[in-house]
Amino acid sequence: MKEKIVSIIESYGKTPERLMDILISVQEEFRCVSDEAVSIIASEIGVSEADVNQTKSFYHFFTTQPVGKYAVYLNNAAVSKMMGMDEVSDEFEKLTGVKFGQCTPDGLISLHYTACIGMSDQEPAALINSVVFTELNREKVKKIVSNMQDGKPVESMVGEYGDGNNAHPLVKAMVKNNIRRPGPVCLSEYDIGKSINKALSMEPKAVIEEVKSSYLRGRGGAGFPAGLKWQFCAQEKGDRYVLCNADEGEPGTFKDRILLTERAPMVFEGMIIAGWAIGAKEGIIYLRYEYRYLLEFLNSVLDDLRNKNLLGKNILGKGFDFDIRIQLGAGAYVCGEESALVESTEGKRGEPRNRPPFPVQKGYLDKPSIINNVETFCSAVKIVENGGKWFKEMGTEESTGTKLLSISGDCKKPGVYEVEWGMTLKEMLDMVGADTTQAVQVAGPSGVCVPPSQFDRKIAIEDLNTGGSMIVIGENRDLIKDVVLNFMEFFEDESCGSCITCRSFNMILRKQVQRVVDGKAIKPDLDNMLEWGKIMQNTSRCGLGQTAANPIASTINNFRDLYESMVKDVEFQSDFDLEKAIAESCEAVGRPPHVHE
Ligand SMILES: Cc1cc2nc3c(=O)[nH]c(=O)nc-3n(C[C@H](O)[C@H](O)[C@H](O)COP(=O)(O)O)c2cc1C
Ligand code: SF4
Repeated sequence: MKEKIVSIIESYGKTPERLMDILISVQEEFRCVSDEAVSIIASEIGVSEADVNQTKSFYHFFTTQPVGKYAVYLNNAAVSKMMGMDEVSDEFEKLTGVKFGQCTPDGLISLHYTACIGMSDQEPAALINSVVFTELNREKVKKIVSNMQDGKPVESMVGEYGDGNNAHPLVKAMVKNNIRRPGPVCLSEYDIGKSINKALSMEPKAVIEEVKSSYLRGRGGAGFPAGLKWQFCAQEKGDRYVLCNADEGEPGTFKDRILLTERAPMVFEGMIIAGWAIGAKEGIIYLRYEYRYLLEFLNSVLDDLRNKNLLGKNILGKGFDFDIRIQLGAGAYVCGEESALVESTEGKRGEPRNRPPFPVQKGYLDKPSIINNVETFCSAVKIVENGGKWFKEMGTEESTGTKLLSISGDCKKPGVYEVEWGMTLKEMLDMVGADTTQAVQVAGPSGVCVPPSQFDRKIAIEDLNTGGSMIVIGENRDLIKDVVLNFMEFFEDESCGSCITCRSFNMILRKQVQRVVDGKAIKPDLDNMLEWGKIMQNTSRCGLGQTAANPIASTINNFRDLYESMVKDVEFQSDFDLEKAIAESCEAVGRPPHVHE
């Protein structure tokens, strides 16, 4: 064991910054990271066992006890449940004789729940030894379990049940890429290398100006202007880094998966162009572990780009050196938050940093870094090719260009659509064949739940902003139980625990929703929940805590009658003073109230 671990560590250069890779390789090799492994890793890379344990304990996919030879991770997100997850989990438990969270006594099969795995268009879905199985039902589970009991390799099962139409044979998955509307930007015709060629014939500053002129805003959800971010970073001194955020953890989104499978060279091309623009030599793409099945394929694309002299030393003979490595995550939604992503890439717990300083000033290894979403990089490629003016003519004034939407839930045609910003929700619902819609959850759990009376609102950063997740909720769903409760369980699980309010209020609010579902809540509880949500919003360090009460706030505000029909009509005079409570909470966490831009 020691020999194997030492050779893994050596393959990553024996540095603490590569601790994530080391832990992932050890977990994959031994099906766990045991205490003995922790001790070997600590002494070999020269850090304390406590440091290794700190990182290890943060991520869902690291375990101290071995997972099964076949480790089944079934998605328990809202859409998976809507599409029949309960039957699938029941069948797995019946056939294996163990419950979720357990392993069969012979160590063959372990069952686990996991958060959204980026397959909302093909639920219920599960990862088995990092291979994806989609559209599961009792029949498929029977075959899969029988194959596992016969000792068949997981990859061989994919061929048996899947009609995977991914772009490359190296993508081992049962995944269909439901692309419904090839667009004028990310999903349009694409010539590998054309934009790099053009960018490298321009001054770096001119590339930044072109991106600025397009008014491209970040596609990861926050909508910060990409050109401005690149400019800020380019102005800083010293080594700089380009980071691509492929963590795609917001439940209901899967458009980055499509870009990574159908447009991988374009994603990397965007990173290379950004590297030229800001003067960086190294790029890192942070790939969520749930997309581990893309690793071999993505590495082959990087090799291809190197062979074409579009990546590596002296790119296209222009004296520009730039290379990209892939950093796997290990299961933590908060690592999509940019400063947590940086921490994780450095081999640490994915705990968000206080800002300022912002990553453009102090990012990866405390060096100036830009962090952009997968789709942002793809859009930049097309902007360099066709010009900022061309891009700006699409969309709205505040939200230029197109947006990839991951549409799932109760509709006839789920999938990824590239649409111009500015489309109304009504138009979107018509497009996907949704006719009995109770609500649309825009931007995932951290977004808003929009009722039919607001379906004429626009999908745009200035109105209904979204990183891409759009969940259609049909009229027969139990909105509070099936959706809101599930979202609150998600936030409770995913809080990193650094802030008192995020750590405790997520749990308290989830319990309150449970009380509503159980018919035990009283009317004043509704306003209390809204007030506690505001405290969280004001006192949490990062976007997770600041938005975690949104599922409750937007449903109480937009579906108040529904809540009132579920709670006891008991009046209760509260002397709760919100302003005072916020001030006290802020004092307790040692920070002024969060200021919203
Ligand atoms: C809890 C949390 C999770 C996030 N997850 C992602 C993610 O998976 N992908 C992403 O691009 N941005 C995510 N973001 C936003 C990033 O912090 C950041 O704004 C983004 O990567 C910047 O890239 P962009 O400007 O190109 O959008 C997340 C933010 C928060 C608070
Ligand atoms: S808000 Fe929540 S997730 Fe963000 S830093 Fe605080 S505890 Fe961690």
